[in-house]
Amino acid sequence: MRMIAPSLLSANFKNLQADIDMINQSSADWLHLDVMDGVFVPNISFGFPVLKHVAEICRKPLDVHLMIVQPEKFIKEVKDLGAYMMNVHYEACRHLHRVVAEIHQAGMKAGVTLNPTTPVSVLEDIIADLDMVLLMSVNPGFGGQPFIENTYPKIARLRELIEKHNSHALIEVDGGVTVANAQSLYDAGVDVLVSGSTVFRAPNPLATIDEILGK
Ligand code: DX5
Ligand code: ZN
Repeated sequence: MRMIAPSLLSANFKNLQADIDMINQSSADWLHLDVMDGVFVPNISFGFPVLKHVAEICRKPLDVHLMIVQPEKFIKEVKDLGAYMMNVHYEACRHLHRVVAEIHQAGMKAGVTLNPTTPVSVLEDIIADLDMVLLMSVNPGFGGQPFIENTYPKIARLRELIEKHNSHALIEVDGGVTVANAQSLYDAGVDVLVSGSTVFRAPNPLATIDEILGK
């Protein structure tokens, strides 16, 4: 699968309506929403009072990426947004199996996110239950950082793990995605690319989304 989820983090916060209208018109598959708490990551982005309005006007499925401690406290809030996918960090969940089960019980797809130095092998005993694994290809917290090349061998190891366990999990990669590396990432086995600054800082975001998709 070759999908793209533009990240709202790099949108124009002075006029979110215009950027969401653009996403609605685009070939984007999902809208990626980065929630940060200033504890799990050294930055704070936006929270549910803002996202409620984003959800009202966005017609694309929402891919919510929680960079927060104790993400299980907010399953209801994410569900109330109408989110399609809820991603929690492996590093933020003491009882990951329970969190994944609760996300499913709430009627959402469950994704687990790994920081750049967390090996994919930690997912051995949960991969069969997951709908997606989100590999961070930058240290989470900020848009516009350079891509960490070690992500490529991780994608290959994750694909092996998925096949070994007959999992249907998608592979998503987040951080430092550009027009220049998008095709090689899809070729390496990525299903969904997140792109913040490349899409929203482009002179023609609609064309850039198509270019990333290889259209
Ligand atoms: C970083 C976020 C990313 C971010 C990516 O912590 O998880 O989703 O928006 O931004 P770019 O594409 O600019 O690296
Ligand atoms: Zn993200």
